[in-house]
Amino acid sequence: MTASEETVSAPCRRTVVATIGAAGIAAALTACGAGDDKDSSDAAGAQEPVGGGGAVLAKTSDIPVGGGKIFKDEQLVVTQPTEGEFKAFSNRCTHKQCPVTSVEGGTVNCPCHGSKFDIADGSVRGGPAPKPLPAAEISVADGSIKLL
Ligand code: FES
Repeated sequence: MTASEETVSAPCRRTVVATIGAAGIAAALTACGAGDDKDSSDAAGAQEPVGGGGAVLAKTSDIPVGGGKIFKDEQLVVTQPTEGEFKAFSNRCTHKQCPVTSVEGGTVNCPCHGSKFDIADGSVRGGPAPKPLPAAEISVADGSIKLL
């Protein structure tokens, strides 16, 4: 198992490990529904990177410079802090695991208790979140962003 095969919370991690492969990872991430971790305080894996299996996630033109886009089904947020620089993070807030819902003002924002994360590195910029958003591995080529 590599670090890129792990995801944010323990139930999701077990599911991801059991389903290695491009489609399996995407399906496993989707299977970790938005409501199942909402009250979980298990943030033990929050620093671990998340990833996929090479599926095209978006076109680079879909991601605004200085902003980002949330991919709810994939449980990811992809940002473009500066032109041509793309980053990806888990969409799960490290406070109580709520999915983030907006990317505005240079931060990825959680609606539950107001945590904000920097679009460049996922670091906490405000609110009660104890840790940065876990990074996800992506590749960018030919105008497409793929999960690794
Ligand atoms: Fe995001 Fe509390 S769950 S701020």
